[in-house]
Amino acid sequence: MLLHRRHILGLEGMPADEIIAILDTADTLKEILSRPIKKVPTLRGRSICTLFYEPSTRTRTSFELAAKILSADVSSLAPSTSSVTKGESFRDTLLTIQAMGTDLFVIRHPCAGAPLFASRIVNVPVINAGDGMHEHPTQGLLDMLTLRSIKGKLAGLQIAIVGDIAHSRVARSNAWGFATVGAAVRIAGPPTLMPPGLEATGARIYDRLEPAIEGADVVYVLRIQKERMDSGLLPSLREYTRLYGVTAERLSRYAAKDAIVMHPGPVNRGVEIAPDVVDAGYSVITDQVANGVALRMALLYLLLGGSDAPRG
Ligand code: CP
Repeated sequence: MLLHRRHILGLEGMPADEIIAILDTADTLKEILSRPIKKVPTLRGRSICTLFYEPSTRTRTSFELAAKILSADVSSLAPSTSSVTKGESFRDTLLTIQAMGTDLFVIRHPCAGAPLFASRIVNVPVINAGDGMHEHPTQGLLDMLTLRSIKGKLAGLQIAIVGDIAHSRVARSNAWGFATVGAAVRIAGPPTLMPPGLEATGARIYDRLEPAIEGADVVYVLRIQKERMDSGLLPSLREYTRLYGVTAERLSRYAAKDAIVMHPGPVNRGVEIAPDVVDAGYSVITDQVANGVALRMALLYLLLGGSDAPRG
């Protein structure tokens, strides 16, 4: 047993050996993605359901691709075109899909705790694909996979996470995950976008960008979540960009010489990150997206009972 859990609900409390086992499995499965025909029969006869109550491009597509590469069947429920619009509850929706024989749920929901709730309702594994402002564990895992492949290690790295921390489930998952594997995490953002309690992850908190990225090996930029910004938390986006925008000039002046830049996407070019930084050689944003497929293959494989090496 590589995993000691039935569900992937968050990185808070996930031990390092399980994180490393997931990353190692993903590294093994990457080879399948370089084949001319990207298909193995490992999960033939199994079915998964992606249930996304919020929009997604990367997470949903990569889960669906991962399942199909492993030969699982995929159903995708969009609440806006489902019986949710007729008032069907989350619980009844889960039980209805379970009754059709799905073997695993991938759930994104605006409410923190919805995947945990689901895991108590259904009798199959549940993967949290992002719940409110709580956690986005598969993003954290694919970020660790990316970072380990580029830097060759995770322990000892200095990682600065900067931006809209308050609304970011990615910040929470990464703060817990990176700390567990021995990286030093710094978190920076405007005080109005800094929730209380993040020190519990072991991270150091900054209200200015420059000291946070000083000597950093990784500058992890978070999206300004404009859709959640109607409560006057920032004077203006222009002011935010002036004080916290990650630019090539700031990186070369403060970050480590071989620093890399990460971003979970989608990117607001010219807001939290300069357009030339997104496209620079030290940006690994595309690697993160690519690694999302292998990482999600690994989770499906491990949670759906894969114990032998996947057959090609
Ligand atoms: N990083 C991420 O979760 O992107 P999507 O919202 O496109 O899935």
